[in-house]
Amino acid sequence: MNPGRGTPRFAQYPACRDPENLVAPEAGTDAPWDSWRSREALQQPTYPDAQAVEDVTTALRRQPPLVFAGEVDDLRTWLGVAGRGEAFVLTGGDCAETFAESTADHLRLKIQALLQMAVVLTYGASLPVVKIGRIAGQYAKPRSSDMETRDGVTLPSYRGDAVNSYEFTPEARIPDPDRLLQTYHHAASTLNLIRAFTKGGYADLRMVHHWNRGFTQNPAYARYESLAEEIHRAVQFMQAAGVDFDSLRDVDLYSSHEALLLEYESAMTRIDSRNGLPYDTSGHFLWVGERTRDLEGAHIELLARVRNPIGVKVGPTTTPDDLLGLMDRLNPEGEEGRLTFITRMGAGTILENLPPLLSAAKADGRPATWITDPMHGNTITSSTGYKTRRFETIMEEVKGFFDAHDEAGTVPGGIHVELTGDDVTEVIGGSAKLDDESLQKRYETLVDPRLNHQQSLEMAFQVAEYLRRDL
Ligand code: TRP
Ligand code: MN
Repeated sequence: MNPGRGTPRFAQYPACRDPENLVAPEAGTDAPWDSWRSREALQQPTYPDAQAVEDVTTALRRQPPLVFAGEVDDLRTWLGVAGRGEAFVLTGGDCAETFAESTADHLRLKIQALLQMAVVLTYGASLPVVKIGRIAGQYAKPRSSDMETRDGVTLPSYRGDAVNSYEFTPEARIPDPDRLLQTYHHAASTLNLIRAFTKGGYADLRMVHHWNRGFTQNPAYARYESLAEEIHRAVQFMQAAGVDFDSLRDVDLYSSHEALLLEYESAMTRIDSRNGLPYDTSGHFLWVGERTRDLEGAHIELLARVRNPIGVKVGPTTTPDDLLGLMDRLNPEGEEGRLTFITRMGAGTILENLPPLLSAAKADGRPATWITDPMHGNTITSSTGYKTRRFETIMEEVKGFFDAHDEAGTVPGGIHVELTGDDVTEVIGGSAKLDDESLQKRYETLVDPRLNHQQSLEMAFQVAEYLRRDL
């Protein structure tokens, strides 16, 4: 098999899709990955009732896995391929998913936006695009402060729907472990919808491309029309040549989230009977945030012990030593695809801060996959008081990412963005020229500002233009 093409073959893994082959340890016995419990665990909710937490995690351990070990292995392989420059990764979705917005309509639009971006990137890169949703599990958030004060009233901070409710009342803000079970069920129904869409004809390349043509017919986006036209001719050519129907019709869309709540992640971990190794079955790809990536901390301890591909967010204060420490902890053997660094430097400083990390990793020699998160280093407050980001600044960081890798002789492996399929007004700029005033029209995020559907597509067209330059 040409490693950069096609889909990794599931047939290699006869047991992988069989949930009975993923077993949880008996209640009361220590699992090998329970070692995180003796480490310091930052950003965990303080639950008032320890017995209730115990009951919930016992129930979670009895639930079927949300994702399967063989799929997790496939994604790890793909991330390795992207690390070598033979595929490109697209990760996108909400900053924080909410239970209320886990509706068919919201999810459909979000999946649609991701797929539309993926088509454009596949054409631009002339490479397979590894599609990962920030979806079906992204319900918990780290916070800078445990408490929030409004008009003299102080309550626990909102930590995401997996923990408490956004509503600013004492009852709503008490962390409730039952929300971990609700998290499981929302993730399950979201994954069910994803599987139906991506295997049921809804993700057909020809249909997704048809949506894109609608986008470029909008005069604001006329500059992308010629690229869309090229894609159109390519699609027609494939169709005329009788290209295999299934590969145009189906898509693998993987799920990812920040592995923040350790009780949840460890209760969702199962031993795969094929190889006797633990997999965190809450999602395919799990990342650890800037605030919780301490080398001796509980998060790294848990993730070091599961077989999933792991991402680590690295910001501008990361030193080359931090980076090598993460490689030692999470990927000592240097397995391809195991470790992804998701860089979030800030557009103004990426060309200073990223190159030393790239050189250190290159000199070390163990492989890593590099993805840019151009959102989190570029958050500002608008003149109208909204937490926002500027589209042009986000694109500047993406460009800096490509330039830094060019310079260092390393591989820019993909992008990680916060987006929604809805027509919100949370990020300013772009060809539709959203300004500070327009933010108030439809500002819906509970946490960070997201690219709307059109801005997401515009980003894909611009990134496709960069990628084409590299050919
Ligand atoms: N199966 C191919 C892939 O996943 C082609 C494809 C079908 C596709 N539908 C798509 C690509 C939607 C992007 C978006 O790459
Ligand atoms: Mn965010």
